[in-house]
Amino acid sequence: MSSSEDQINQRVPQHVAIIMDGNGRWAKAQGFSRLEGHKQGAKRLRDVIHWARDAGIKQVSLYAFSTENWKRPKLEIQGLMALMATMLPLEVPKMMEEGARLLTLGDTSKLPWLARKALQRAVKATQDNTSVDVILCLNYGGQQEIIEGIQNFCANFETASEKEASLAALTPELFAAYLGREQILPVDLLIRTGGEKRISNFHLWDAAYAELYFTDTNWPAYSESDLKAALDDYARRERRFGKTSEQVQGVENE
Ligand code: FPP
Repeated sequence: MSSSEDQINQRVPQHVAIIMDGNGRWAKAQGFSRLEGHKQGAKRLRDVIHWARDAGIKQVSLYAFSTENWKRPKLEIQGLMALMATMLPLEVPKMMEEGARLLTLGDTSKLPWLARKALQRAVKATQDNTSVDVILCLNYGGQQEIIEGIQNFCANFETASEKEASLAALTPELFAAYLGREQILPVDLLIRTGGEKRISNFHLWDAAYAELYFTDTNWPAYSESDLKAALDDYARRERRFGKTSEQVQGVENE
């Protein structure tokens, strides 16, 4: 690959994470129920897989249900879980057509049986696809993920002195191995729809150097041109990872 191609490719984020917010507000504005908002949101989820693949994005992760979403009204939770159980099987043929592989993040063991089964089947059916990874984040929380990483780390040692020595030598790179995210790339671009400007416990570890992008568009109304606007904005950013602008541009020696 030539260096100019290399530069162009770096302008496309490899992993785009999306906080799909605004389903409820969109529904209210249309005079629909909140669940109808989630239903339309689930349809955009299907579209975004197609747009992401076309744009050359390798992974797209979607915050579908957070560890904090259990605090919502029971009926809304049941509706969201039922939506997953009914819509996911219908999406599998399209995902096969797109070459999309479904992965999950979060503790899916706590989901109702029907939703869990639908997920397991979709993950298995799409496991050999290679065009784009779709990472559904379900019962996911960034803080919980880090706590789990600490628990995994601590469970790894037989003696206290072994643990102490490894703890003293621990680096972010070494710790990442305990997070169970081997298949997940660092987040390059984190998009939040719906106008709020916060990351709500999403990807706390892997978004350390993510570019953040906020849009007022509510998720059910999200379109390909909204995604293109985010990608264009990303392409104009200078990602410095702690370095100076001169270093990044190669004007100044290392
Ligand atoms: C946030 O909007 C959205 C959610 C908490 C749920 C997102 C879920 C989907 C898009 C459906 C997933 C479906 C499948 C099949 C995986 P909000 O309800 O907080 O909106 P509001 O802030 O306007 O009230």
